[in-house]
Amino acid sequence: MKVLVLGGAGYIGSHICKALAARGDTPIVFDNFSAGHRDSVRWGPLVEGDIGNAADLDTAFLEHAPDAVMHFAASIEVGIGEREPLAFWRNNVAGALSVLDRMAKHGCEVFVFSSTCAVYGQPEHLPITEAETRKPHNVYGRTKLAVEQALEDISRSGKLRYATLRYFNAAGASPDAEIGERHDPETHLIPNVLKAAAGLSDELQLFGDDYPTPDGSCVRDFIHVDDLAQGHLSAVDRLLAGEDSFCCNLGTGHGTSVQQVISAVERVTGLPVPRTVHPRREGDAAELYADTSLSRELLGFSPSRSDIDTIVEDAWRFHKKDWGV
Ligand SMILES: NC(=O)c1ccc[n+]([C@@H]2O[C@H](COP(=O)([O-])OP(=O)(O)OC[C@H]3O[C@@H](n4cnc5c(N)ncnc54)[C@H](O)[C@@H]3O)[C@@H](O)[C@H]2O)c1
Repeated sequence: MKVLVLGGAGYIGSHICKALAARGDTPIVFDNFSAGHRDSVRWGPLVEGDIGNAADLDTAFLEHAPDAVMHFAASIEVGIGEREPLAFWRNNVAGALSVLDRMAKHGCEVFVFSSTCAVYGQPEHLPITEAETRKPHNVYGRTKLAVEQALEDISRSGKLRYATLRYFNAAGASPDAEIGERHDPETHLIPNVLKAAAGLSDELQLFGDDYPTPDGSCVRDFIHVDDLAQGHLSAVDRLLAGEDSFCCNLGTGHGTSVQQVISAVERVTGLPVPRTVHPRREGDAAELYADTSLSRELLGFSPSRSDIDTIVEDAWRFHKKDWGV
């Protein structure tokens, strides 16, 4: 099987490429390197291009005739989205429509979309099921919701089948430390806690210790990037086997607090994490964790590396190598 992996030089996309290759499939990476890394393209051919550029996409479809498309290419930093909404809508929404347009032109009918739990905003129920009302409270989440809705409409033509996968907090790294998380700016918790532990940044800023949670810090659902990769393989297999479009959460089903992440980092690294407590950030929900019943039922999704110590151990192994510490 040949899979066109849009954004395949990025964090999650590169782990999916590695997983595809490990089972004998060919990942074709398509990336403009706005955030990706050339040394993460290791498991198949590269087409350098921009998803907003029809000619670039045509090159990928004509040269490689993929059986399916997996779409990771997006602008992801929530704060930048608030400052530059037009750029976010252009890349995340117009970019996705450009991809769907070229897929229709080249007769490619299977699409796996990276969505996010940010589409739920402040959920009314926990754990969060796929039936939760979608009311994102930031530009990033609204652009992802717009693509979800476009897929729902466009697939009614019968020419497109899609899987919308709503990830919770992707974390960890390849256990062999070959690839891992390298965002710039890095806004994700685990790399930043590790950086503080390693003495590579100032104190960790902990936002809010007065949430109505057991230890007062926010609770999130951390899912290992290799578990996410297995979820993508199952999703594309399901669609290629002729099943209908679907949408499901990819998480573990249980929450881990920011304080518990800090404790795990101290346990794994043996280093203290210097931190300062700041007021809550506007818009941060107290608790977000997935109901995983549907992903279990549709995909047989069963995370195996997503306990917090394993995630932190894998991330630490990668970062020690990457940072040279
Ligand atoms: N990291 C998470 O915790 C998380 C959670 C939920 C959803 N997601 C979604 O998963 C996807 C991947 O996230 P990530 O953390 O790997 O991000 P990333 O920034 O590491 O990877 C995105 C890749 O897409 C490429 N790209 C961006 N715009 C492009 C364009 N116009 N044309 C071609 N390539 C382009 C970048 O160069 C980069 O290689 C994103 O769609 C993100 O919204 C991530």
